[in-house]
Amino acid sequence: MATQDELKQAVARAARDYVADRLPLGAILGVGTGSTANFFIDEIAAIKDRLGGAVASSEATARRLAGHGIRVLDLNDVDAIGIYVDGADEIDGSMAMIKGGGGALTREKIVAAVAGTFVCICDASKRVQTMGRFPLPVEVIPMARAHVGRELAKLGGTPKLREGMLTDNGNVILDVHGLSITDPAGLETQINQIVGVVSNGLFARRGADVLLLAAADGVQTHLR
Ligand code: 5RP
Repeated sequence: MATQDELKQAVARAARDYVADRLPLGAILGVGTGSTANFFIDEIAAIKDRLGGAVASSEATARRLAGHGIRVLDLNDVDAIGIYVDGADEIDGSMAMIKGGGGALTREKIVAAVAGTFVCICDASKRVQTMGRFPLPVEVIPMARAHVGRELAKLGGTPKLREGMLTDNGNVILDVHGLSITDPAGLETQINQIVGVVSNGLFARRGADVLLLAAADGVQTHLR
């Protein structure tokens, strides 16, 4: 029986091969954040000479990329990102995701918005029928924390401040527990309308295009 880390390693290797096969020589790669993304970063060190550079979705990812000698580019200095590779906390059958367990949701959403193809890399435990068991992260301007918390409660969730954590953008995270997310795109839009919300961890309007899912019997490829 493979451990979760072995599954993450396997899917990271499959994503490296996907990038090596499909990203044109010299094109820009977007790179996500989290433990699965970290395995992927370590894998792409082997193909770094094929890349024009990488755009990172967090300071931690930028540091890890640079540690491997991979050129890290500012998003404002690139015209296009061919492929964005990132993990997820949950992914449903429509390729909508909850992300932000690592607190990098806003930058992840920005990089994903620019990318031509979003490749989600997960182990099979992340695949769900209905999202919401994993608390939904919402990045909030600090002075709006209480207001946003009250508004999120009206949507049926229980928001909890992620203690001792500030995002790379200097904001706080409210993790919303107890949601059963039957309309991910609708809820994503609704939460974005709350004044003080920077972004939320629902990636439904821009979901994944490709899912590489690691299970005990190998890595499966799912297309949107
Ligand atoms: C970070 C994220 C991550 O992709 C998500 O939390 C999954 O992380 P991991 O690969 O460690 O399970 O959205 O903000």
